[in-house]
Amino acid sequence: MIPRETVDQILDTARIEDVIGDFVTLRRRGASLVACCPFHNEKTPSFYVTPSKGIYKCFGCGKAGSAVGFVMEYEHCSYTDALKYIAKKYHIDVQETEESAEDIVARQKRESLLLVSEFAQKFFVSQLDTPEGQTLAMAYYRRRGLEDETIRRFGLGWAPSGRTALRDAALEAGYKEEYLLDAGVCVRREDGRVLDKFHSRITFPIHSVSGRVIGFSCRTLRTDDNIPKYINSPDTEIYDKSRSLYGIYLAKADISRMDKCYLVEGNVDVVSMHQLGITNLVASCGTSLTVEQVRLIKKFTSNITIMYDGDKAGIHAALKGIDLVLKEDMDVKVVLFPDGDDPDSFSRKHTLQEVRDFIAGAERDFVSFKTDLLLEGAGNDPLRRAGLINEVADTIALIPDAVKRSVYVDVVARKFGIGEDIIFDRITRDRLKMINDQRSERERERRREDNLRRYNEQALAQGRGPVPVQPPASGQAPVLTLSALETDRFVAPVERELLGFLLTNGTDELTFESDSEYAQYNGCTVADFISGSLDTEEGSMVIPAYKKVYEAYLHAYEAGYPQDTIVRHLLGSPDAETAFVSAQLSVERYQLTVSDFEKSLTNVHSWLAMFVPKALYRHLDAKAESRLDAIPRELSEEGADTDALLSELKRLQDIRRDLEPKIKKQ
Ligand code: CTP
Ligand code: MN
Repeated sequence: MIPRETVDQILDTARIEDVIGDFVTLRRRGASLVACCPFHNEKTPSFYVTPSKGIYKCFGCGKAGSAVGFVMEYEHCSYTDALKYIAKKYHIDVQETEESAEDIVARQKRESLLLVSEFAQKFFVSQLDTPEGQTLAMAYYRRRGLEDETIRRFGLGWAPSGRTALRDAALEAGYKEEYLLDAGVCVRREDGRVLDKFHSRITFPIHSVSGRVIGFSCRTLRTDDNIPKYINSPDTEIYDKSRSLYGIYLAKADISRMDKCYLVEGNVDVVSMHQLGITNLVASCGTSLTVEQVRLIKKFTSNITIMYDGDKAGIHAALKGIDLVLKEDMDVKVVLFPDGDDPDSFSRKHTLQEVRDFIAGAERDFVSFKTDLLLEGAGNDPLRRAGLINEVADTIALIPDAVKRSVYVDVVARKFGIGEDIIFDRITRDRLKMINDQRSERERERRREDNLRRYNEQALAQGRGPVPVQPPASGQAPVLTLSALETDRFVAPVERELLGFLLTNGTDELTFESDSEYAQYNGCTVADFISGSLDTEEGSMVIPAYKKVYEAYLHAYEAGYPQDTIVRHLLGSPDAETAFVSAQLSVERYQLTVSDFEKSLTNVHSWLAMFVPKALYRHLDAKAESRLDAIPRELSEEGADTDALLSELKRLQDIRRDLEPKIKKQ
């Protein structure tokens, strides 16, 4: 959050003509400034900026707003990011509040990784000037018809043949080895040596939407089939393949303006087409298209044209892409290149006009694409024809908008010369099935909650303390589930409970009776008691996701934040698992305590004093149980150290026997 005073200062300082002037060339006309609108295609200017009022308005497309609004619209960014952008322009210091210690650490880490990536990027570009870069990389770029300006615009470079060239240069410049590894540009070999991930390859930097370098895709110049053609950055804290699109930073403004995005398969396709003058295009980064990538495109346009090779793999990928795009309520068209050509080779053989004409002629809506394709295979076989009508109908059924669906039904009916009602029947069936699937997902969720509630009641009756009830699933189907995160069935329920104590009562004090074995801990907080005990156990928490939340909690707790701030930060954590687990476990415990129990207890402090120590014992017990569960299997393995395993077995059984009375005791 940016403090109100800073927001005011930014808004007061920003001059709209300066801010917009950084993106478009403004010309004075009377009291206003004019330009061709950056948000739609036009030849005569109808975009007006009025400095006295601090607003812009386009009389062509109707877009209007303030300087902040312009940045948001143009950069497709959030309000906060737009403010930050403007603040930077005017050298206004933005001290964000409400950022927890972990937030700061995570942000600084990401920033460090971005700086390392940018260093690597500059390094690869600088290598083009070396003899190796000239004779290998530049010669290759020239052979492929890439001009210097294109190479510069896309930041293409050369990863030299030395195995530690980048590493040495980066360490020399003061970058930490750890960050080189975490940014994915170096790798640690088994023998401990740290080497460059990319060498003897041309480099394509991958940019975020806002133009930061987040990863690399690197192509070998060799034609040897035994080595991979591309080596790509791994997913890192700054690079998520499934959410990135190659070329998006350079293409986004044109995608918006032309209200259309071309999707190609290869990096080189993007670069070549761009050089020819077709600039509203991106490629999915070495993966098959994902729903996140489609949603990213949707921020700029809802029209996608898939341009894949005409070979079998290309057609298959196109068919999958169609369904993905339709589901997101976007329009999809397909262009297949003549066999043997891809956008890159085709664009080098033709002029811009020829390529444009070809695309215009070859572009087909998904229904004709799919039907023609399937018809080719089916011939006149009536059964196969019926099957393929169904297949086309299944795709139409994915479109959320009913009006659009009926338009396509009309197309299919005419194409096959059959009644619309037949197609509608199939679509209705498909959609009913989709709705049912969603419903049974919700049903399963409800049953799970019931089970948990029953489990809690039972647990309480047996004096085991409740497991917090989970909040009802929100409208969207959850991607994460607790059970998917729970890697050990013995310790999972106990760790869930311990975390529940922290998230609901972590800063509350424990009141022990004077004759209690813990009397000396009287007045100690739940968090101190749990961490004091877990720290002495080997390895603390077992379930990685729980351990992460536990550590994040303690980190903030030890920094002195009050309980509600800690929980708020955990809930708003940029780490999806942390946020999810915290939300699931931070429900008020009292709403589910069974009445009998409540009556017998004086207050929350003694209630906690009763259950927290027991939960810790059960944690030790569950860890022992989990280990005991594994030992018989290990004993049967070849070369097992039987003596050691048997003595461990004995030790664990002793531990459990000692714990038993403590866990049972009321
Ligand atoms: N790709 C990959 N790993 C490979 C091969 C391909 O990650 N071993 C990804 C790359 O992102 C590549 C895309 O798939 O850009 C398409 O592959 P291809 O058409 O073979 O590559 P191009 O980029 O077109 O390269 P070129 O034209 O130089 O062969
Ligand atoms: Mn290619």
